[in-house]
Amino acid sequence: MGSLYPISNRIRKDLKKIEEYLKESVASDSFLLNETSLETLRAGGKRLRPALVLISGSIGAYDIDKLIPAAVSVELIHTATLVHDDVLDGASLRRGFPTINTSHGRSAAISTGDFIFGKALAYLAKYDDPRVMEAMVPTTLALSVGEIQQIKTAYSINQTIDDYLTKIKNKTASLFSTCCKLGSLVSGAKEEEIEMLGLYGENLGMAFQVYDDVLDVSGKESSTGKSIGTDLRDGTLTLPVFFAMDESSQRDRLRKLVGNKNISYEEAKEALEIINDTEALERTKNFARLCVEKSIEAVKNINNKELFNDLEKIGKFVIDRYN
Ligand code: FPP
Ligand code: MG
Repeated sequence: MGSLYPISNRIRKDLKKIEEYLKESVASDSFLLNETSLETLRAGGKRLRPALVLISGSIGAYDIDKLIPAAVSVELIHTATLVHDDVLDGASLRRGFPTINTSHGRSAAISTGDFIFGKALAYLAKYDDPRVMEAMVPTTLALSVGEIQQIKTAYSINQTIDDYLTKIKNKTASLFSTCCKLGSLVSGAKEEEIEMLGLYGENLGMAFQVYDDVLDVSGKESSTGKSIGTDLRDGTLTLPVFFAMDESSQRDRLRKLVGNKNISYEEAKEALEIINDTEALERTKNFARLCVEKSIEAVKNINNKELFNDLEKIGKFVIDRYN
């Protein structure tokens, strides 16, 4: 874990500790919840959000014991949203393993997501500083708003790129930003430093989601652990689709395909081919690169070299995954 992206040794070592805490974090009297929660956590993941908490924690007085509850909490919140997201999407595969809705059914998956979310809040409640909850509450709301926006705009070819950007800001960038804010505020950073890292996290999160959307069009299942073309079949219109609808000579056919609620597997494949025949993926990757540049710009005045290097490395990783 963590070896996927290059970061300083201290953060890598402490991320291993977080892994142990994560396993303990979901203990309960319910055999089923223990099984489903551990199954979800064992499936792995990049642990990027706890890494952001720890990295941002280097801006002040780095104290791993103080950072642990926040780092565990953000990964639990992320995990809970994925468990719910897989129910909503009817997804069968996550991180290369069957989703909880597949292995234990939809009801068990919904309860598992609720349970993990509750545990995440318990970890945040360990802090006396009210700014911790103040930072996370709007994010938990944004996550749900983003998901509802996705559901409401499904298969809608009249939505705009701005609609898409608002949605990904809510469903992904908000949590990235909060990870950075939590790490810095717990370590006693100044308000302007917390804001600076929050802005870094927000732009990084935008880049992350945009690149995730690239991977849904052009990634390999063996690398991403997810089925390719899922967004199209779910009616989730992403940046590569918008760009292809703008430039493809087959734009009318593409609009018809992605706007069809009953799109078949074969039709989704056809849409992917149309998108791959355009410059849309390159344009989308460029957009993600710009977001990373913005994130680095936000922290350029940090005078802690090791911290800056870690922030930069994470930025590079986000737009260069599985290449
Ligand atoms: C994955 O995105 C999903 C999210 C980032 C957010 C999902 C949020 C919810 C289901 C709301 C639940 C909220 C709480 C607080 C429990 P994606 O579908 O683009 O990524 P994927 O390809 O990995 O599925
Ligand atoms: Mg999904």
